[in-house]
Amino acid sequence: EKGTYAHFMLKEINEQPAVMRKIIQNYQDDEGQLKIDRNISEAVKEADRVYIIACGTSYHAGLVGKEYLEKWAQIPTEVHVASEFSYNMPLLSEKPLFIFISQSGETADSRAVLVNIKEKGYKSLTITNVQGSTLSREANFTMLLHAGPEIAVASTKAYTAQIAVLSILAQVAARDNNIDTNVDLMPELAKVTTAMSAIIDDADRMEEIAREYLSETRNAFFIGRSMDYHVSLEGSLKLKEISYIQAEGFAGGELKHGTIALIEEGTPVLALATQENVNLSIRGNVQEVEARGAKACIISSEGLEKEEDTYVLPHVHELLTPLVSVVAYQLISYYAALHRDCDVDKPRNLAKSVTVE
Ligand code: M6R
Repeated sequence: EKGTYAHFMLKEINEQPAVMRKIIQNYQDDEGQLKIDRNISEAVKEADRVYIIACGTSYHAGLVGKEYLEKWAQIPTEVHVASEFSYNMPLLSEKPLFIFISQSGETADSRAVLVNIKEKGYKSLTITNVQGSTLSREANFTMLLHAGPEIAVASTKAYTAQIAVLSILAQVAARDNNIDTNVDLMPELAKVTTAMSAIIDDADRMEEIAREYLSETRNAFFIGRSMDYHVSLEGSLKLKEISYIQAEGFAGGELKHGTIALIEEGTPVLALATQENVNLSIRGNVQEVEARGAKACIISSEGLEKEEDTYVLPHVHELLTPLVSVVAYQLISYYAALHRDCDVDKPRNLAKSVTVE
């Protein structure tokens, strides 16, 4: 039930802090140590490479998960769009572990890959919101998202839950391999929870941003580098699927290789600036598009902000920023769609769960 919320999407966006708390609760032991099923941590330890398979928003969560598995656990990781995997099957390593990320656990494209790799005898883990779903039943292992039912077609709380669960998996893998990542994950996730709530409390500001930048436009660009690039892809998907504004996410550095040709007077460009090592370069990109007439909306993180920024997100651990910046993009997309009288929860041509290949 929607309760007092106008739409399931808004309800689900608002539930994200509670979902984070639930994940923290479910993945720690009585001493506050990270806890996952031993069979899963052993499977990760045995693997020489991880292959993440997913579609849509879950694929975007996989892109963030790869950063955790590589940067924290030092496990080489590839992320593949499920529907492309069979045509562009990479040369597999000797001991691969497949991770399927799927909110519904029913996505046919992902299942086709699972059937294929099972035939070859490879191990698999499904990260899903639905216990007993097809992908959960058919994989060797399951990690649950604990996000509660997600009804709106646009995925919101499942994305942040997927990223949080992947961060836990990677931290456990690092611990098992005696790698000191210098991150005390659960307190960091608790900070994320507070930061998410702060943005949700600022929903009016998100509505203003949507009105100012997206009310008139036919297209919009999302740019970012590093972690912010992954979130830009997700932000653009969110906006396009519910508001029908043509939106594209790009790596800041790619603009000059073609996309900048599309910038006209007034084209909205939403830029994320949450990563210290690319702060200067993404701001350089903003200047480049502004010089061509773009209307830039910069969303930065506390500590990296500059006067020209449109909105400043609360500070969290740099690799966990996707959990926070995406909430701003979810709300901005929600209001942009609302302002256009779109059917937010049931956008045209889309189904919640895509059970055909
Ligand atoms: O249930 P799944 O996570 O496997 O679904 C994958 C995609 O179909 C899904 O994320 C889709 O992209 C959403 N509508 C995005 O909001």
